[in-house]
Amino acid sequence: MIEIKEITKNYGKLAVLKGVSATISQGEVVSIVGPSGAGKTTLLQIIGTLDKPNSGIVTYDGIDVMALKEKELSRFRNQNIGFVFQFHQLLPEFNCIENVALPALIGGTKQSKAYSRASELLDFMGLTDRMKHTPAQLSGGEKQRVAVARALINNPSVILADEPSGSLDSENRKELHNLFFRLREELGQTFVIVTHDESLAANTDKVFRMQDGIIVGQTL
Ligand SMILES: Nc1ncnc2c1ncn2[C@@H]1O[C@H](COP(=O)(O)OP(=O)(O)OP(=O)(O)O)[C@@H](O)[C@H]1O
Ligand SMILES: [Mg+2]
Repeated sequence: MIEIKEITKNYGKLAVLKGVSATISQGEVVSIVGPSGAGKTTLLQIIGTLDKPNSGIVTYDGIDVMALKEKELSRFRNQNIGFVFQFHQLLPEFNCIENVALPALIGGTKQSKAYSRASELLDFMGLTDRMKHTPAQLSGGEKQRVAVARALINNPSVILADEPSGSLDSENRKELHNLFFRLREELGQTFVIVTHDESLAANTDKVFRMQDGIIVGQTL
């Protein structure tokens, strides 16, 4: 379970998060919605330990992640948190298997094991015959599915996604959203998804509605 308590974040005089608290349980698919500038990305980056709040607490199963030293925190992030962004952020010079295996290799997994797990995940994503393709040789939807496989490689407790379907057409968007729910169904995967897509949000277990740096509403 992930708990955030009374998170605040300022950039100079600008208060971007003004006391945000929330709980995300194992196996939940949670969405964060709200107008541009509401603080959604800032909050997701703080939940993902990529950014530090000015005050407040982030815990994963009771572990206060802000108390971890930098090396421990990198290790924690590598093992526990998968990220998917609006633009795939795959490395252009590496093929799909290599891109997906990378977080496992960084985490110290042997190459043979990392590659076989990467290929299993790519199979699951329906990309069996794209394994050796580089990102430039893939469609937008395929690239995002590779990014999801990469996020999954270390069996993270949570996948944090920031407008993951924001750059896709409606068909690929629907397919990606279905994939999230299939991963929850089959692997019990927890997701926190920032989205402008109200139809995706409507299908999630919890919707956090943000405005001006606070959660103004939570739909269960
Ligand atoms: N590094 C930064 N320095 C200064 N201000 C920032 C910084 N990052 C974000 N902000 C400001 O914080 C506010 C919240 O930004 P954030 O990116 O979290 O919004 P968002 O809800 O994700 O919006 P969008 O839907 O457009 O992605 C915005 O007003 C933004 O300009
Ligand atoms: Mg954003």
